Amino acid sequence: MNPFIIKNYVSPEFFCDREKETKRIISAINNQRNLTLSSIRKMGKTGLIHHVLNQLHKTNEIDTIYLDIYDTTSLSDFINKFGTVLLQIKETFSEKLKRKTSEFIQSIRPTITYDNLTGTPSLSFYVDNEQMGKNTLDDLFRFLQNRSSEKKIVIAIDEFQQITNYAGLNVEALMRNNIQSLQNVNFIFSGSDKHLLANIFTNAKRPFYQSTELMHLEEISTESYQNFIDSKFEEQKIICKNDVIPLILEWTKRHTFYVQYLCNKIVSSERKQIDKEVLKQIFHEILQENEAYYFEYRNLLTSQQWKLITAIAKESGVNKISGSSFIRKHNLSNPSTVRRGINALLEKELIYKKGEIFYVYDVFFSRWLERR
Ligand SMILES: Nc1ncnc2c1ncn2[C@@H]1O[C@H](COP(=O)(O)OP(=O)(O)O)[C@@H](O)[C@H]1O
Ligand SMILES: [Mg+2]
Repeated sequence: MNPFIIKNYVSPEFFCDREKETKRIISAINNQRNLTLSSIRKMGKTGLIHHVLNQLHKTNEIDTIYLDIYDTTSLSDFINKFGTVLLQIKETFSEKLKRKTSEFIQSIRPTITYDNLTGTPSLSFYVDNEQMGKNTLDDLFRFLQNRSSEKKIVIAIDEFQQITNYAGLNVEALMRNNIQSLQNVNFIFSGSDKHLLANIFTNAKRPFYQSTELMHLEEISTESYQNFIDSKFEEQKIICKNDVIPLILEWTKRHTFYVQYLCNKIVSSERKQIDKEVLKQIFHEILQENEAYYFEYRNLLTSQQWKLITAIAKESGVNKISGSSFIRKHNLSNPSTVRRGINALLEKELIYKKGEIFYVYDVFFSRWLERR
């Protein structure tokens, strides 16, 4: 098995560091605080949540639920997902709880279907108007309240920003009220910076304003990642020159997914001696494999926007975007066009802003643009 995971969390063995973050989240949970985890995409939020739930689960004193709501577009979708995961923990219940569960199922009458291949049950609720949606959601939370009286439950809701796209009822207010009234249940909310923070938790006009502890996930430290890569390479009998691991971390900007991906490719190349030249070649191959996507990005942009994103990549982080030297150097018409371009690129999430500095979001794309 390739020790560099680029998909779902597997186990602590393949997980690099995040020790402080794990402790902090567990401490929040042990002290009944709800927590919101945010970062740019692919930094490792989902992985960290699974890592935390994995540790909590081991203790056997807490039931854990993970819910990814990325593909939900309405309250009714949410209810179906939420109800389904609640049903899935049922199997670990005592008989008494099973009885309670069946009562719960009766009261809101879901249809249960079983996946043909895996046999996993899933629930669907008949929610054809807003009032029914609200009532069903209230019922599910009441069930949760009931259920948690015997054992603490931790619920992680990933891609939480998605609830802002549900039409109709004020779902945020509904959720907030329900969550607030639960005794022995704690939540971890997670999502990307832009939407989650700006829209839900730090906007004084929104129901969730300041209702949870905020935690921002940054890059894994150089030292930790270096040790992790080093030990995995050793297990694979890969020998590399001293400058190779620092270069891996530099070229990927220590952005978790890109580090994992490059290392995964190194292992799969089956080369056992890695020096700078070999690394360069593997890196180059990755950029080439992705080139079709990059040309697709170009089709989405005006020529001014394309020039601008190329300039941002080449400068590897720019703050004075409308400054005259940046504009002159990269031949970008004028400050107001640049400002408009920046807004369009932010909107399309091709760039992001950290502090006052702009970066190209996709690290490999950024490296590819730099070479243009
Ligand atoms: N600490 C880590 N060690 C090793 N791999 C990780 C770590 N954190 C995340 N990953 C992997 O990196 C990739 C991106 O992380 P993910 O958790 O999906 O990011 P996010 O949820 O922030 O978008 C995933 O394949 C994940 O398994
Ligand atoms: Mg994620």
